[in-house]
Amino acid sequence: MNKKFYITTPIYYINDVPHIGHGYASIATDVIARYHRKQGEEVFFLTGTDEHGAKIAEAAAKLDETPKEFVDKLDLKFRAAWKLLNISNDEYIRTTDSLHGEVVSKLVEKLVERGFVEKRSYEGLYCVGCEKYMKESELVNGLCPDHLKKPAIQSEENYFFKLSAFADQLKSKIESDEIMIRPESKKHEILGKINLGLDDISISRAHVEWGIPFPGDPEQTIYVWIDALINYYSATKMYDREEFWPADLHIVGKDIFWFHAVIWPAVLLALDLPVYKKLFVHGYFTVDGQKMSKTIGNVIKPEDLVAKYGTDAVRYYVLSAFPFGADGDVSLEKMNQAYLKLANEIGNLFQRTIAMINKYFDETQKNEVKSQKLDEHQLIDTKPEMAELQLMEALRKIMLFAEDQNKAIAATQPWALAKDGKNDELAIFLTKTHSNLIVLADALVPFMPETAKKMNHQLATLDLEPLFPRIEE
Ligand code: MSP
Repeated sequence: MNKKFYITTPIYYINDVPHIGHGYASIATDVIARYHRKQGEEVFFLTGTDEHGAKIAEAAAKLDETPKEFVDKLDLKFRAAWKLLNISNDEYIRTTDSLHGEVVSKLVEKLVERGFVEKRSYEGLYCVGCEKYMKESELVNGLCPDHLKKPAIQSEENYFFKLSAFADQLKSKIESDEIMIRPESKKHEILGKINLGLDDISISRAHVEWGIPFPGDPEQTIYVWIDALINYYSATKMYDREEFWPADLHIVGKDIFWFHAVIWPAVLLALDLPVYKKLFVHGYFTVDGQKMSKTIGNVIKPEDLVAKYGTDAVRYYVLSAFPFGADGDVSLEKMNQAYLKLANEIGNLFQRTIAMINKYFDETQKNEVKSQKLDEHQLIDTKPEMAELQLMEALRKIMLFAEDQNKAIAATQPWALAKDGKNDELAIFLTKTHSNLIVLADALVPFMPETAKKMNHQLATLDLEPLFPRIEE
């Protein structure tokens, strides 16, 4: 039996069209999923959209649409974006799927039955952008630091989940890596927060109609974050993948780290369900040093980048720009440079090697070289990097390998060997380079799947087609 591997992206809020920030999380998760498939594991890769809550209802109301009309329209945009970026998710969950709703209400009912839920009246500051109550101490000049808006005072009767009861268990499981949180800095950050003590949290809302009704109290809906987190589990039921629970790896951005590192495992513990194995928290990027925002007008859409540079160059760029797990900055200028690097290092390498083989080899030699297969002993070893999810470093290793091939060509000067009639040396060198290009294509499979396919095609047919054509401005 193949090893099973269950990996997820965050489910994205569907209050607007997808941007490259969402794309970043999906691309990274896709690369990891493809890498595991390539290792022969049976992978379940889930992505989807988070469709309930005040944030979505407000966005729909602005357009005079019902929330359902609104999310159905945007759903198509998200699916199209993932197709364009070649995201290989096995399933796509929407929290408005009725089966998901059934699982959520069942689990919440169970939380109530197990005595972990209590009705209390509550007054607090609610940020709709974050979909959470904020503490005074979290505000900066009275505003939510992420959304730069003043949270509204809300007072209502809510159902509370006794999160505080799980502080000790969470602490010891996170400390021992039974719940593995990476990068290490994030593990320490969350342990620090848990040490300050956990407050119980409200898991229902009284004035948000767009959501799953709270079991036994139709006046209330289930808090959108509880609804959303459960997607990872409900999907295993909906898509008949129950044997994949617990999830092996949740990939999330740092903005939603708390929900995944604290609330989600506590809910699972309260339900006596196995907790996911690993949470990897990636950083956020700015665009030219600024937060990506509609107001600033610097939102990058995946389709615009792909139209200009192609899917694989975009995948390459976002992952090579800065370490996975850290914050970084992206820009169109740097995207352009990354493309040129691909064209110069990899595109040229293929162009030159195949052109020389066509020029210097006779038919027999060509047929021989065409039938070369991947030499399993010669792989570019990205295992250590991939085990730590150091995607940028893995890509760097692959690029270095390409650069080495270019250097070897410059040093060997096959054209000079041909001129001097050193045909054996020439044949050995080109055959070896050809074999190395198979190795290069193999390492690129998870990162740049279509390019890797084209490379293998070119190596097997000796037909040339530019891998990274010149960009028309
Ligand atoms: N719906 C919640 C997640 C629920 S998961 C059970 C949500 N959605 S979101 O659409 O606002 O953001 C989801 C993710 O998109 C972030 O966690 C992050 O992975 C990614 N990103 C959004 N903007 C980004 C950047 N500017 N940079 C990098 N990643 C970004 O929160």
